[in-house]
Amino acid sequence: MKGFPEDFLWGGATSSAQLEGGFDQGGRGKSQLDYVTFIPKEQREERLSTSEVDYDRYVDAIKNEDHYNFPYRRGIDFYHHYKEDIKLFAEMGFKVFRMSISWCRLFPTGLEETPNPEGIQFYHNVFDELHKYNIEPLVTMIHYELPIALTEKYNGWESPEVIGLFTKYTKVLLDEYKDKVKHWIVFNEINMMLASPFTGGGLFLKKAKKNRLSTIHQALHHQFIASALTVKYAHETAKDCMVGCMIARLECYPYTCKPADIEAAMIEDQINFYFYDVMARGTYPKSILRYFKENDIEIDYVKDYQDILKNNTVDFLAFSYYMTYVVSADEDKRENPGDLVKKLKNPYLKSSEWGWGIDPIGLRVTLNRIYDKYQLPIFVVENGLGAVDQLENNAVHDPYRIDYLREHIKAIKKALEDGVEVMGYTPWGCIDLCSASFADMTKRYGFIYVDQDDEGNGTLGRIKKDSFYWYQKVITSNGEDLE
Ligand code: BG6
Repeated sequence: MKGFPEDFLWGGATSSAQLEGGFDQGGRGKSQLDYVTFIPKEQREERLSTSEVDYDRYVDAIKNEDHYNFPYRRGIDFYHHYKEDIKLFAEMGFKVFRMSISWCRLFPTGLEETPNPEGIQFYHNVFDELHKYNIEPLVTMIHYELPIALTEKYNGWESPEVIGLFTKYTKVLLDEYKDKVKHWIVFNEINMMLASPFTGGGLFLKKAKKNRLSTIHQALHHQFIASALTVKYAHETAKDCMVGCMIARLECYPYTCKPADIEAAMIEDQINFYFYDVMARGTYPKSILRYFKENDIEIDYVKDYQDILKNNTVDFLAFSYYMTYVVSADEDKRENPGDLVKKLKNPYLKSSEWGWGIDPIGLRVTLNRIYDKYQLPIFVVENGLGAVDQLENNAVHDPYRIDYLREHIKAIKKALEDGVEVMGYTPWGCIDLCSASFADMTKRYGFIYVDQDDEGNGTLGRIKKDSFYWYQKVITSNGEDLE
């Protein structure tokens, strides 16, 4: 096959918490991310990010709400700007727009029996606006956003109670929107729970009943079951839909060609791929059961979990791709396996300003490896370069972003030529939004600049960057014109 297929889904990706704002409007409740505070640069410790928000900081944020800056509460106010934003996406030629639904906009505490009509209507309006321009929504059912009431009551996904509450919500989504949404992803980057249990699972390790790793894999077990039950309902009721699962894919390389390093990378990969194994093959692989045993990880499995997982596997695989990392068997260089983001630097790669190793070849490699292993269609639902942009004379010149995206698109093209079924490509933060690591606006990914700073100052005006016109050309030429 040559080049991109005619029906390739070009677009962009976002999440409700980072985009939407309107946190206290339309009957919305609060999510755990509404309590994540902005941390000024000078106060950031090494590796400290919003993903490591701990219980004490959360309690402090609740007590002293007036003293803190909560960027996710305002996002970039898509809630009031969605028509203008979607028009800009249409101008770029988007075929698909990846967005997520805010659970607490539909079920303010997660505990209500029926959904909030205003919340339901808001997403109808957004989907209708997208369809007006023939843009397909690609909807993530939960992108790191748990109603805070469920953190308070159940310590988030630590509790099996959340499975039923979540499937009540996802049933509403499927019943309500199945004629408007054909592609669904149940959990955003489900494997992020390993690094960030509060972000990924709305849970505090400090309050958990079991040890760290048992708590994390217990919460993941609950998410796997919730995902499988959602897939089951979708397959029964929304037959035209495709439901996918998603991970943050970080291709991992051995530090050297020493066999022990290769083995260390293999073990790391067994942990990384276990998420796909459970959701796409419907079973816990033996390698992960061994890992559980060796690390004293104890899980209380949900009744009939094997059948639930086996009978309800996903239709496609999705992943985000930003960087690769390096693993060594050497104790001095090694961190805990399965921690997701490693510190070992790859001397062959350049890095972004945030130290993320830029590796387009790794994308081709990862697409091939995943396809060889699972033989399912793949959607690259996040990719991009976080950078500091300069707005000058109402323009942003961002050749660094164009270079980054160009090389990654070339890698996807090669993977397609290798025979990998790639469904589409949605670069992250197609419009500038709050970053996940530090809840700031300094790190930007968009084709569209949003005039807002870290403190929320600015006109919220939308300005087309140079990359906007470049991506428009890429889409019009179906990936042929990348210059
Ligand atoms: C992914 C998340 O991990 O990476 C997004 O799904 C996030 O929510 C993106 O924004 C980029 O990370 P950051 O920290 O640069 O915003």
